[in-house]
Amino acid sequence: MATILAIESSCDETSASVCVDGKILSNVIASQAIHEQYGGVVPELASRAHMQNIVPVVDAALVQASCSRQAIDAVAFTQAPGLIGSLLVGAQFAKSVALALNKPLIAVHHMQAHVLANLIADDRPDFPFLCLTVSGGHTQIVLAKAPLVLEVIGETIDDAAGEAFDKTAKLLRLPYPGGPLIDKYAQSGNPLKFKFAEPQIPKLDFSFSGLKTSVLYFLQKQEPNFIQDNLHDLCASVQHTIISILIKKLKKAVQQTGVKNVCIAGGVSANSGLRKALVESGIKYQWKTFIPSFEYCTDNAAMIAITAFYKYQVQQFTTLDTSPTARAEW
Ligand code: KG4
Ligand code: ZN
Repeated sequence: MATILAIESSCDETSASVCVDGKILSNVIASQAIHEQYGGVVPELASRAHMQNIVPVVDAALVQASCSRQAIDAVAFTQAPGLIGSLLVGAQFAKSVALALNKPLIAVHHMQAHVLANLIADDRPDFPFLCLTVSGGHTQIVLAKAPLVLEVIGETIDDAAGEAFDKTAKLLRLPYPGGPLIDKYAQSGNPLKFKFAEPQIPKLDFSFSGLKTSVLYFLQKQEPNFIQDNLHDLCASVQHTIISILIKKLKKAVQQTGVKNVCIAGGVSANSGLRKALVESGIKYQWKTFIPSFEYCTDNAAMIAITAFYKYQVQQFTTLDTSPTARAEW
């Protein structure tokens, strides 16, 4: 039996989770509404909010899991990538708990954890599987050969899919983060009403910066009330373009690797259109598809805990002098 306390603080969610032998018993997430008024995450404010939230969030995670401090076998934290001030709060807290309890410390890569969020549910993919990881900072296709053997086989050369959502949402005068709002309005819009060009990028890589520019140029040519009058169709058309770019590359990845277990992960995998498109592609191309439940798509500590569970089994521990880093290779 291994009981793991995991902490996630890479961006603007403070989260803690307790996992016992691969089963998630709690996943408490405190979101930081303060950034909305600034139109994006303000790093300094994020760090301060993590400082305020971390103790109550960890306490709530222990209470929900009916877990005493003495029952903890290891403490895990997000080491990279992310905002350095935010990462430092979670890392320092985890190190202190590990030191106080004299238990091992486990450092987790945030993007690997997004992929392994697919191993939380009982209905989980067999290895090997492909994972399209789409978040605010990353867009990757990952070939997962084993829990800790993950290979990035494609990624964005500029903006991430989440940035494409958020930046076009800003052009449509929607508040930050715009991704969930585009999703909401798209549900009652026509996805084929407006056509935006898809980039032709070689291999399994992506590019999303051109989409933002083409939406900008398109909007500049329109009448003053155009956005207001066409908001739902604009959202549906932008979302349709982003999903089309993503699914085409995923299809190419399946063709190249021959792997037909296909997952999605990361904040953008909460998008209802993308979830639907993946399921439809699975039926059309005979893929076995997997999608984490909503709470495990956007940033959360349960995905850190499940990754730490696999690291615990092979004793992949880190020393107390470790430091988080804003960027990190796999
Ligand atoms: O994984 P995540 O929570 O944080 C990072 O690690 O970046 O991803 C955040 C991103 C944001 O860009 C947000 O707009 C996007 O995920 N997002 C969505 C939806 N929910 C979150 N994008 C489109 N549709 C959604 N429903
Ligand atoms: Zn993330």
